[in-house]
Amino acid sequence: MMNAAADAIIVINDQGLIRHFSPAASRLFGYAADEVIGRNVTVLMPARYAKDHDQHLARYQVVRQPHIIGKGRDVEGQRKDGSRFPMRLSVGEAQIDGKSFFVGICHDLTAHRDALQHLAMAE
Ligand code: HEM
Repeated sequence: MMNAAADAIIVINDQGLIRHFSPAASRLFGYAADEVIGRNVTVLMPARYAKDHDQHLARYQVVRQPHIIGKGRDVEGQRKDGSRFPMRLSVGEAQIDGKSFFVGICHDLTAHRDALQHLAMAE
């Protein structure tokens, strides 16, 4: 199911390390799965987000108060070539053998942003 999904699906563990990277995630971010599995998910985001992301994961696991989980957020992703793009991030949590994993779904908003810009220019 993960391999057939149109949106990128990324699974990380409670430390933020990438455990699964779907084919659509490879297309969106420009990394082959084996280049990023085992690396921190921060490799997929601009530095201004990456610097605090470990702390966000740690905070959530202590306080259990979600800010993105179950709500989603529009953020910026960063590809292997360093280019950035707007995306809708949805995050869910799964417990397997007593351990937390987080499942992220990334929907590319580039076309949506471009359409809005065209509309604004036409006004
Ligand atoms: C929290 C950004 C990818 C899992 C956060 C927060 C930000 C953020 C800003 C803190 C929210 C707050 O406290 O207000 C990003 C960006 C990403 C990204 C820019 C771009 C690639 C991911 C992915 C996953 C993930 C792919 C899961 C596979 C989480 C979790 C939290 C979190 C579990 C803490 C729980 C929560 O706040 O609900 N992220 N994230 N993130 N992110 Fe990410």
